[in-house]
Amino acid sequence: MSSNFEDLHDFMAARRRRVEETMLRLLPNSTSAAPRLADAMTYAAMGGGKRIRPILVYAACELAGGTAEMADVAAAAIELLHTYSLVHDDLPAMDDDDLRRGRATCHRAYDEATAILAGDTLHTLAFEMLSSAGNYSASQRVDLIRTLCYAAGADGMAAGQMQDMQAQGQLQTLAALEEMHYLKTGRLITASLQLGLIASGREDASLASALTEYGDAIGLAFQVQDDILDVTGSADVLGKSSGSDEKLGKSTFPGLIGLDPSRQRAKQLCDQACAAIAGQAPEHSVLIALARYIIERQH
Ligand code: IPE
Ligand code: IPE
Ligand code: MG
Ligand code: MG
Ligand code: MG
Repeated sequence: MSSNFEDLHDFMAARRRRVEETMLRLLPNSTSAAPRLADAMTYAAMGGGKRIRPILVYAACELAGGTAEMADVAAAAIELLHTYSLVHDDLPAMDDDDLRRGRATCHRAYDEATAILAGDTLHTLAFEMLSSAGNYSASQRVDLIRTLCYAAGADGMAAGQMQDMQAQGQLQTLAALEEMHYLKTGRLITASLQLGLIASGREDASLASALTEYGDAIGLAFQVQDDILDVTGSADVLGKSSGSDEKLGKSTFPGLIGLDPSRQRAKQLCDQACAAIAGQAPEHSVLIALARYIIERQH
Protein backbone atom coordinates (compact mmCIF):
# COMPACT_ATOMS: atom_id res chain seq x y z
CA MET A 1 0.00 0.00 0.00
CA SER A 2 1.00 3.67 -0.17
CA SER A 3 3.54 5.35 2.11
CA ASN A 4 0.59 6.83 4.00
CA PHE A 5 -0.24 3.41 5.36
CA GLU A 6 1.49 3.86 8.72
CA ASP A 7 -0.15 7.25 9.24
CA LEU A 8 -3.53 5.85 8.35
CA HIS A 9 -2.98 2.80 10.51
CA ASP A 10 -2.13 4.97 13.53
CA PHE A 11 -5.04 7.34 12.90
CA MET A 12 -7.47 4.44 12.62
CA ALA A 13 -6.18 2.72 15.76
CA ALA A 14 -6.33 5.90 17.85
CA ARG A 15 -9.83 6.88 16.68
CA ARG A 16 -11.07 3.30 17.15
CA ARG A 17 -9.97 3.50 20.78
CA ARG A 18 -11.79 6.82 21.26
CA VAL A 19 -15.06 5.65 19.77
CA GLU A 20 -15.02 2.38 21.67
CA GLU A 21 -14.51 4.22 24.95
CA THR A 22 -17.43 6.50 24.13
CA MET A 23 -19.69 3.61 23.16
CA LEU A 24 -18.87 1.70 26.35
CA ARG A 25 -19.57 4.78 28.43
CA LEU A 26 -23.01 5.29 26.83
CA LEU A 27 -24.25 1.71 26.47
CA PRO A 28 -26.59 0.50 29.23
CA ASN A 29 -24.97 -1.73 31.87
CA SER A 30 -26.14 -4.68 33.89
CA THR A 31 -27.96 -2.42 36.35
CA SER A 32 -30.45 -1.41 33.63
CA ALA A 33 -34.09 -2.56 33.55
CA ALA A 34 -33.32 -5.62 31.39
CA PRO A 35 -29.74 -6.82 31.97
CA ARG A 36 -29.95 -9.49 29.27
CA LEU A 37 -30.89 -6.83 26.71
CA ALA A 38 -28.04 -4.57 27.87
CA ASP A 39 -25.63 -7.53 27.58
CA ALA A 40 -26.80 -8.36 24.06
CA MET A 41 -26.40 -4.72 22.98
CA THR A 42 -22.89 -4.63 24.40
CA TYR A 43 -22.06 -8.02 22.87
CA ALA A 44 -23.05 -6.79 19.41
CA ALA A 45 -21.47 -3.35 19.71
CA MET A 46 -18.18 -4.16 21.38
CA GLY A 47 -17.19 -7.35 19.59
CA GLY A 48 -14.75 -5.95 17.05
CA GLY A 49 -15.56 -4.33 13.74
CA LYS A 50 -13.43 -2.00 11.67
CA ARG A 51 -15.21 1.14 12.92
CA ILE A 52 -14.96 2.69 9.46
CA ARG A 53 -17.98 4.93 9.86
CA PRO A 54 -16.71 6.50 13.12
CA ILE A 55 -13.26 6.89 11.56
CA LEU A 56 -14.89 8.82 8.72
CA VAL A 57 -16.76 11.01 11.24
CA TYR A 58 -13.44 11.89 12.91
CA ALA A 59 -11.65 12.45 9.59
CA ALA A 60 -14.33 14.85 8.33
CA CYS A 61 -14.62 16.70 11.65
CA GLU A 62 -10.87 17.17 11.87
CA LEU A 63 -10.56 18.17 8.21
CA ALA A 64 -13.16 20.86 8.94
CA GLY A 65 -11.06 22.19 11.82
CA GLY A 66 -12.86 20.44 14.67
CA THR A 67 -11.29 18.27 17.37
CA ALA A 68 -11.57 14.53 17.87
CA GLU A 69 -13.47 15.24 21.09
CA MET A 70 -16.17 17.11 19.16
CA ALA A 71 -16.66 14.02 16.98
CA ASP A 72 -16.83 11.40 19.78
CA VAL A 73 -20.59 11.23 20.32
CA ALA A 74 -21.52 11.52 16.63
CA ALA A 75 -18.99 8.77 15.83
CA ALA A 76 -20.36 6.48 18.55
CA ALA A 77 -23.96 7.13 17.45
CA ILE A 78 -23.41 6.09 13.85
CA GLU A 79 -21.49 2.98 14.89
CA LEU A 80 -24.39 1.93 17.15
CA LEU A 81 -26.83 2.55 14.32
CA HIS A 82 -24.63 0.50 11.97
CA THR A 83 -24.39 -2.27 14.59
CA TYR A 84 -28.18 -2.44 14.78
CA SER A 85 -28.29 -2.83 10.99
CA LEU A 86 -25.84 -5.76 11.22
CA VAL A 87 -27.77 -7.49 14.04
CA HIS A 88 -30.97 -7.34 12.00
CA ASP A 89 -29.19 -8.15 8.71
CA ASP A 90 -27.96 -11.43 10.26
CA LEU A 91 -31.38 -12.57 11.52
CA PRO A 92 -32.90 -15.73 10.02
CA ALA A 93 -35.58 -13.61 8.33
CA MET A 94 -32.87 -11.66 6.50
CA ASP A 95 -29.43 -13.13 5.69
CA ASP A 96 -29.54 -15.90 8.30
CA ASP A 97 -25.88 -15.71 9.25
CA ASP A 98 -24.15 -17.44 12.16
CA LEU A 99 -20.87 -15.53 12.20
CA ARG A 100 -20.23 -11.81 12.63
CA ARG A 101 -16.98 -10.06 13.55
CA GLY A 102 -15.39 -13.46 14.23
CA ARG A 103 -18.02 -14.51 16.78
CA ALA A 104 -21.51 -15.96 16.90
CA THR A 105 -24.11 -13.52 15.57
CA CYS A 106 -26.25 -11.85 18.22
CA HIS A 107 -29.27 -14.12 17.68
CA ARG A 108 -27.02 -17.20 17.90
CA ALA A 109 -25.27 -16.01 21.07
CA TYR A 110 -28.61 -15.01 22.64
CA ASP A 111 -31.86 -15.76 20.80
CA GLU A 112 -33.91 -14.16 18.06
CA ALA A 113 -36.21 -12.11 20.27
CA THR A 114 -33.25 -10.71 22.20
CA ALA A 115 -31.40 -9.86 18.97
CA ILE A 116 -34.43 -8.05 17.54
CA LEU A 117 -34.76 -6.02 20.74
CA ALA A 118 -31.00 -5.36 20.92
CA GLY A 119 -31.17 -4.01 17.35
CA ASP A 120 -34.16 -1.83 18.23
CA THR A 121 -32.46 -0.39 21.29
CA LEU A 122 -29.06 0.18 19.61
CA HIS A 123 -31.05 2.19 17.08
CA THR A 124 -32.87 4.31 19.66
CA LEU A 125 -29.70 4.74 21.75
CA ALA A 126 -27.97 6.32 18.76
CA PHE A 127 -30.62 9.04 18.57
CA GLU A 128 -30.82 9.46 22.32
CA MET A 129 -27.08 10.16 22.37
CA LEU A 130 -27.33 12.71 19.60
CA SER A 131 -30.13 14.45 21.48
CA SER A 132 -28.39 14.67 24.83
CA ALA A 133 -24.75 13.51 25.05
CA GLY A 134 -21.67 15.53 24.18
CA ASN A 135 -21.40 19.27 23.81
CA TYR A 136 -23.44 20.12 20.75
CA SER A 137 -25.71 23.13 20.34
CA ALA A 138 -29.44 22.58 19.94
CA SER A 139 -29.24 23.29 16.23
CA GLN A 140 -26.30 20.91 15.78
CA ARG A 141 -28.33 18.20 17.55
CA VAL A 142 -31.28 18.69 15.19
CA ASP A 143 -28.95 18.54 12.17
CA LEU A 144 -27.19 15.42 13.45
CA ILE A 145 -30.46 13.63 14.15
CA ARG A 146 -32.06 14.65 10.85
CA THR A 147 -28.99 13.56 8.88
CA LEU A 148 -28.82 10.15 10.54
CA CYS A 149 -32.62 9.58 10.28
CA TYR A 150 -32.58 10.41 6.60
CA ALA A 151 -29.64 8.08 5.93
CA ALA A 152 -31.02 5.15 7.91
CA GLY A 153 -34.74 5.32 7.22
CA ALA A 154 -37.34 4.46 4.61
CA ASP A 155 -35.49 6.35 1.86
CA GLY A 156 -32.05 5.27 3.07
CA MET A 157 -30.39 2.15 4.50
CA ALA A 158 -33.66 0.40 5.37
CA ALA A 159 -34.92 1.00 1.81
CA GLY A 160 -31.72 -0.58 0.47
CA GLN A 161 -32.19 -3.56 2.75
CA MET A 162 -35.78 -3.93 1.51
CA GLN A 163 -34.58 -3.82 -2.11
CA ASP A 164 -31.90 -6.39 -1.22
CA MET A 165 -34.52 -8.78 0.13
CA GLN A 166 -36.85 -8.26 -2.82
CA ALA A 167 -34.04 -8.74 -5.35
CA GLN A 168 -33.09 -12.17 -3.99
CA GLY A 169 -33.13 -14.69 -6.81
CA GLN A 170 -33.74 -12.00 -9.42
CA LEU A 171 -31.51 -10.53 -12.09
CA GLN A 172 -31.24 -6.78 -11.61
CA THR A 173 -30.03 -4.15 -14.02
CA LEU A 174 -26.68 -2.58 -13.15
CA ALA A 175 -28.44 0.72 -12.41
CA ALA A 176 -30.85 -0.96 -9.97
CA LEU A 177 -27.97 -2.81 -8.29
CA GLU A 178 -25.99 0.41 -7.88
CA GLU A 179 -29.01 2.16 -6.38
CA MET A 180 -29.60 -0.68 -3.94
CA HIS A 181 -25.96 -0.75 -2.85
CA TYR A 182 -25.83 3.00 -2.54
CA LEU A 183 -28.93 2.96 -0.32
CA LYS A 184 -28.09 0.00 1.90
CA THR A 185 -24.45 0.93 2.51
CA GLY A 186 -23.56 4.21 0.83
CA ARG A 187 -26.06 6.30 2.72
CA LEU A 188 -24.60 5.60 6.17
CA ILE A 189 -21.08 6.17 4.83
CA THR A 190 -22.07 9.55 3.38
CA ALA A 191 -23.88 10.40 6.63
CA SER A 192 -20.63 9.70 8.53
CA LEU A 193 -18.89 12.48 6.62
CA GLN A 194 -21.85 14.81 7.08
CA LEU A 195 -22.04 14.08 10.81
CA GLY A 196 -18.34 14.89 11.13
CA LEU A 197 -18.82 18.25 9.47
CA ILE A 198 -21.85 19.11 11.64
CA ALA A 199 -19.97 18.06 14.79
CA SER A 200 -17.10 20.40 13.88
CA GLY A 201 -19.48 23.36 13.97
CA ARG A 202 -18.19 24.66 10.64
CA GLU A 203 -20.74 25.83 8.12
CA ASP A 204 -19.19 25.55 4.69
CA ALA A 205 -21.40 24.63 1.72
CA SER A 206 -18.56 23.73 -0.62
CA LEU A 207 -16.90 21.46 1.95
CA ALA A 208 -20.33 19.89 2.63
CA SER A 209 -20.87 19.11 -1.03
CA ALA A 210 -17.32 17.78 -1.51
CA LEU A 211 -17.72 15.48 1.51
CA THR A 212 -21.11 14.26 0.25
CA GLU A 213 -19.72 13.53 -3.21
CA TYR A 214 -16.71 11.76 -1.67
CA GLY A 215 -18.99 9.77 0.68
CA ASP A 216 -21.38 8.72 -2.10
CA ALA A 217 -18.48 7.36 -4.16
CA ILE A 218 -16.64 5.50 -1.37
CA GLY A 219 -19.96 4.31 0.05
CA LEU A 220 -20.83 2.50 -3.14
CA ALA A 221 -17.22 1.30 -3.48
CA PHE A 222 -17.42 -0.09 0.06
CA GLN A 223 -20.33 -2.38 -0.84
CA VAL A 224 -18.73 -3.38 -4.16
CA GLN A 225 -15.66 -4.51 -2.19
CA ASP A 226 -17.93 -6.27 0.36
CA ASP A 227 -19.49 -8.23 -2.53
CA ILE A 228 -16.03 -9.04 -3.95
CA LEU A 229 -14.81 -10.29 -0.56
CA ASP A 230 -17.89 -12.49 -0.18
CA VAL A 231 -16.60 -14.35 -3.28
CA THR A 232 -12.83 -14.19 -2.74
CA GLY A 233 -12.44 -14.04 1.05
CA SER A 234 -12.41 -16.69 3.74
CA ALA A 235 -14.48 -16.69 6.93
CA ASP A 236 -11.25 -16.70 8.99
CA VAL A 237 -10.12 -13.39 7.54
CA LEU A 238 -13.56 -11.82 7.05
CA GLY A 239 -14.90 -12.73 10.48
CA LYS A 240 -18.21 -13.51 8.72
CA SER A 241 -19.21 -16.32 6.41
CA SER A 242 -18.11 -16.09 2.79
CA GLY A 243 -20.12 -17.37 -0.15
CA SER A 244 -23.36 -16.43 1.54
CA ASP A 245 -24.47 -14.04 -1.23
CA GLU A 246 -24.41 -16.79 -3.83
CA LYS A 247 -26.10 -19.23 -1.48
CA LEU A 248 -28.95 -16.77 -0.91
CA GLY A 249 -29.24 -15.71 -4.56
CA LYS A 250 -28.29 -12.12 -3.67
CA SER A 251 -27.81 -9.50 -6.34
CA THR A 252 -24.14 -8.55 -6.22
CA PHE A 253 -21.55 -6.82 -8.37
CA PRO A 254 -19.45 -9.93 -9.08
CA GLY A 255 -22.65 -11.88 -9.75
CA LEU A 256 -23.85 -9.36 -12.32
CA ILE A 257 -20.69 -8.10 -14.02
CA GLY A 258 -17.90 -10.45 -12.85
CA LEU A 259 -14.95 -10.01 -10.49
CA ASP A 260 -12.54 -7.98 -12.62
CA PRO A 261 -15.12 -5.43 -13.82
CA SER A 262 -16.24 -5.13 -10.17
CA ARG A 263 -12.66 -4.34 -9.12
CA GLN A 264 -12.43 -1.78 -11.92
CA ARG A 265 -15.68 -0.15 -10.82
CA ALA A 266 -14.39 0.05 -7.23
CA LYS A 267 -11.15 1.66 -8.44
CA GLN A 268 -13.07 4.15 -10.58
CA LEU A 269 -15.25 5.09 -7.58
CA CYS A 270 -12.14 5.52 -5.41
CA ASP A 271 -10.62 7.88 -8.01
CA GLN A 272 -13.93 9.76 -8.20
CA ALA A 273 -13.96 10.15 -4.40
CA CYS A 274 -10.38 11.44 -4.33
CA ALA A 275 -11.15 13.92 -7.13
CA ALA A 276 -14.23 15.17 -5.25
CA ILE A 277 -12.21 15.99 -2.15
CA ALA A 278 -9.02 17.13 -3.90
CA GLY A 279 -9.75 20.84 -3.58
CA GLN A 280 -10.51 20.51 0.14
CA ALA A 281 -8.05 17.92 1.48
CA PRO A 282 -4.26 17.82 1.07
CA GLU A 283 -2.87 15.11 -1.20
CA HIS A 284 -1.65 13.01 1.73
CA SER A 285 -4.72 13.44 3.90
CA VAL A 286 -6.47 10.69 5.81
CA LEU A 287 -9.55 10.84 3.57
CA ILE A 288 -7.51 10.11 0.45
CA ALA A 289 -5.78 7.20 2.19
CA LEU A 290 -9.15 5.93 3.49
CA ALA A 291 -10.62 5.86 -0.01
CA ARG A 292 -7.78 3.54 -1.07
CA TYR A 293 -8.10 1.46 2.09
CA ILE A 294 -11.80 0.89 1.36
CA ILE A 295 -11.14 -0.76 -1.98
CA GLU A 296 -7.93 -2.57 -0.94
CA ARG A 297 -9.15 -3.96 2.37
CA GLN A 298 -9.30 -7.73 2.74
CA HIS A 299 -11.92 -7.81 5.50
C1 IPE B 1 -20.58 -4.67 6.84
O1 IPE B 1 -20.02 -3.46 7.24
C2 IPE B 1 -21.92 -4.42 6.25
C3 IPE B 1 -21.90 -3.56 5.08
C4 IPE B 1 -22.59 -2.46 5.05
C5 IPE B 1 -21.14 -3.92 3.91
P1 IPE B 1 -18.52 -3.39 7.74
O2 IPE B 1 -17.63 -4.09 6.74
O3 IPE B 1 -18.18 -1.97 8.05
O4 IPE B 1 -18.56 -4.26 9.05
P2 IPE B 1 -17.79 -4.09 10.43
O5 IPE B 1 -18.47 -2.98 11.16
O6 IPE B 1 -16.35 -3.80 10.14
O7 IPE B 1 -17.98 -5.42 11.12
C1 IPE C 1 -25.48 -5.32 4.56
O1 IPE C 1 -25.08 -5.85 3.37
C2 IPE C 1 -25.83 -3.94 4.51
C3 IPE C 1 -26.43 -3.49 5.76
C4 IPE C 1 -27.19 -2.45 5.75
C5 IPE C 1 -26.21 -4.18 7.06
P1 IPE C 1 -24.59 -7.35 3.49
O2 IPE C 1 -25.69 -8.25 3.90
O3 IPE C 1 -23.83 -7.69 2.26
O4 IPE C 1 -23.56 -7.23 4.72
P2 IPE C 1 -22.73 -8.45 5.29
O5 IPE C 1 -21.93 -9.02 4.16
O6 IPE C 1 -23.70 -9.39 5.89
O7 IPE C 1 -21.82 -7.80 6.32
MG1 MG D 1 -27.73 -8.28 3.79
MG1 MG E 1 -25.57 -9.87 5.34
MG1 MG F 1 -22.02 -8.75 2.17
